[in-house]
Amino acid sequence: MNEITIVRPDDWHVHFRDGEMMRTVVAETARHFGRAIVMPNLVPPVVTRADANAYQRRIEAALAEHGMQDQFKPLMTLYLTEQTDPNDVVAAAQSGDVQAVKLYPAGATTNSASGVSNIDNVMPVLEAMADNNVVLCVHGEVTNPDIDIFDREARFIEDVLQPLRKRLPSLRIVMEHITTKHGADYVSSEDSNLAATITPQHLLLNRNHMLVGGVRPHYYCLPILKREEHRKALVDVACSGDRRFFLGTDSAPHEKHTKENSCGCAGVFNSTVTMACMAQLFEQQHALDMLEAFCSKNGPAYYGLPINETTITLRRSEKPVTLPEHVINGDINVTVFDPAQDINWRVV
Ligand code: NCD
Ligand code: ZN
Repeated sequence: MNEITIVRPDDWHVHFRDGEMMRTVVAETARHFGRAIVMPNLVPPVVTRADANAYQRRIEAALAEHGMQDQFKPLMTLYLTEQTDPNDVVAAAQSGDVQAVKLYPAGATTNSASGVSNIDNVMPVLEAMADNNVVLCVHGEVTNPDIDIFDREARFIEDVLQPLRKRLPSLRIVMEHITTKHGADYVSSEDSNLAATITPQHLLLNRNHMLVGGVRPHYYCLPILKREEHRKALVDVACSGDRRFFLGTDSAPHEKHTKENSCGCAGVFNSTVTMACMAQLFEQQHALDMLEAFCSKNGPAYYGLPINETTITLRRSEKPVTLPEHVINGDINVTVFDPAQDINWRVV
């Protein structure tokens, strides 16, 4: 097959940032995707419905600068803090202003200082969300300094997620950017109210790509890349068509100099090349017929939203395509994800 047309995909986890960076990256997503769940980890974070409304207007203004306001819809999220007001969350969700609430364990990743230290302190919010069918997106890593960085996802499942799901089985959860076989197995083993997103980098790369032959700061993200056996488990579930798994790029732009640094930021910016990479991967797996499920159908089904009305077409060429290496806007320079293999597909 040299050409495939699928329902326009959505990105169920993206970082747009704000200001000039947002104006730089927003078109990269809007070009291929119909909607995206927009992460709230700004500084300060998007905590209230009013914050989300204001941020949405800034995103829409940036889209309008690119003439893309009609082809893309940002889906807003709230950053869960121990001060979050359950009534504000429910009102925001019921009005459609907000699509999900994001749980960051305090200190887990970039701009997560205002996150949750003790889940008991947010139980009233989580109960209100469960009662009102509001999705909780979780960054699934424990932050205890004694736990090895490569074990943090597995420990989160045991120590936080399983107990939470026992306590509140009706809460609808998305375990975001799963990176391990533990994550894939856990989500596969549960038959309701749990789904997971997976990123392009965790589907294409393992930790050797980041660490062998020199440290590659542009492959450093959180959760960190894992062993090959974990990557394979993620590829299996992504390509299976299983409705519980869908694309969330976790595209997370940082300026080049803040990643190429003695203490580099975590985050991979991949929006520009994600769909080409996905077509390549699904072709390799003889699963092109599942590309649409993973990228365009499973996400809306879990969120209870209609699929997009338009389509995109991907075309395969004999020669590898030349992928952009940077997105540049004035002084801002963001390095684009390098999939570390030839890519023969592009969005036409
Ligand atoms: C994200 C960021 O830079 O905001 N970084 C990352 O490595 N994924 C934060 C996050 O989603 O963990
Ligand atoms: Zn993220």
